[in-house]
Amino acid sequence: MTVDSDPKLVIETKDLVKMYGPHIALQGLNLKLQSGATGILGPNGAGKSTFFKCILGLITTTSGEGTVLGYDIRTQGDLIRSKIGYMPEYDSLDPGLSAIDQVRYSGELIGMNPSQATQRAHEVLEYVGLKDQRYRKIETFSTGMKQATKLACALIHDPEILICDEPTNGLDQRARDFMLQTLRNTVNQGGRTVLMSGHVMDDIQEVCDNIVMIHKGKIVVHRRIDELAKQVDEEIEISVWGGSSRMQDSLESKGLIVRRLGRVMRIKVESEETISLILECAVESGVQVRKMGEYEPDLEDIFLLIMDKLGAEVKKTSDLMTFEHTGEASV
Ligand SMILES: Nc1ncnc2c1ncn2[C@@H]1O[C@H](COP(=O)(O)OP(=O)(O)OP(=O)(O)O)[C@@H](O)[C@H]1O
Ligand SMILES: [Mg+2]
Repeated sequence: MTVDSDPKLVIETKDLVKMYGPHIALQGLNLKLQSGATGILGPNGAGKSTFFKCILGLITTTSGEGTVLGYDIRTQGDLIRSKIGYMPEYDSLDPGLSAIDQVRYSGELIGMNPSQATQRAHEVLEYVGLKDQRYRKIETFSTGMKQATKLACALIHDPEILICDEPTNGLDQRARDFMLQTLRNTVNQGGRTVLMSGHVMDDIQEVCDNIVMIHKGKIVVHRRIDELAKQVDEEIEISVWGGSSRMQDSLESKGLIVRRLGRVMRIKVESEETISLILECAVESGVQVRKMGEYEPDLEDIFLLIMDKLGAEVKKTSDLMTFEHTGEASV
């Protein structure tokens, strides 16, 4: 395997629309994905799995177009699937088979000859940490072992692109860490492109360099993760002693936008005068400002700010599992 350091365009969609009957699942996605690792983050029903199935050529698109490694998603699904490994979100395993037979079988299904498939099945099961369990029946496996088997099936033909739909779903901390590390190795040491979906920023952050946030079938953010902070407004964080509500009222009466978490307040930087306005408010409302500084949000907080702009009441990324769609605003 060689590591390709220059990112190249691997997936492109133009105005991609997918309807299920009258229900619109993808509302015209325009996306250019580079090689490397990209995380697709979005609430339940956002369209993540539908997007994967469209680019794999597994379902027909309603309108729009797309290519994967230059192949047309509408007409060249077979070729695309020979270059992509797909780990679906649903349980795709046969409980009565041993792991080695299941993985070998998935290789044969995509056209590998039996001896080649057998040899690769041993290699990939070792890669996903199941060397010692490979002859056991899948029905005896934990969720973590099943997810690892699904990953092995996806890797059998040494694909250029690996698509993992919620790879950490249902995993405990140890299995999760191992899964994310394996995906990271597939990118860093294997030089492969990985696309993974998920509900939790922490998981995506551990593997991916880029992030795409999907909301109601639309892309709301597509950025390098290390540039995500640019997506949100700059804020000053202050910590006050006594009279927090009075301080908040005073700030708001001067037209400042305040996010308050008890004694800590974050105030949107509107201009160079914001700091002096904050100090004026402190004097007027008779409170002591204990701490003041530029607020540096973590990724989880950035995500919440973006969701807030969308009118979505989400408190943390894990809420996306049970999230009901609200609001029509766009970022
Ligand atoms: N086969 C189908 N028939 C009808 N509607 C569907 C079908 N598959 C998905 N949908 C709908 O399309 C929308 C997008 O679903 P999709 O499964 O792509 O979302 P998702 O982001 O993968 O969600 P999750 O986080 O729950 O896996 C949802 O509203 C869903 O109910
Ligand atoms: Mg899904």
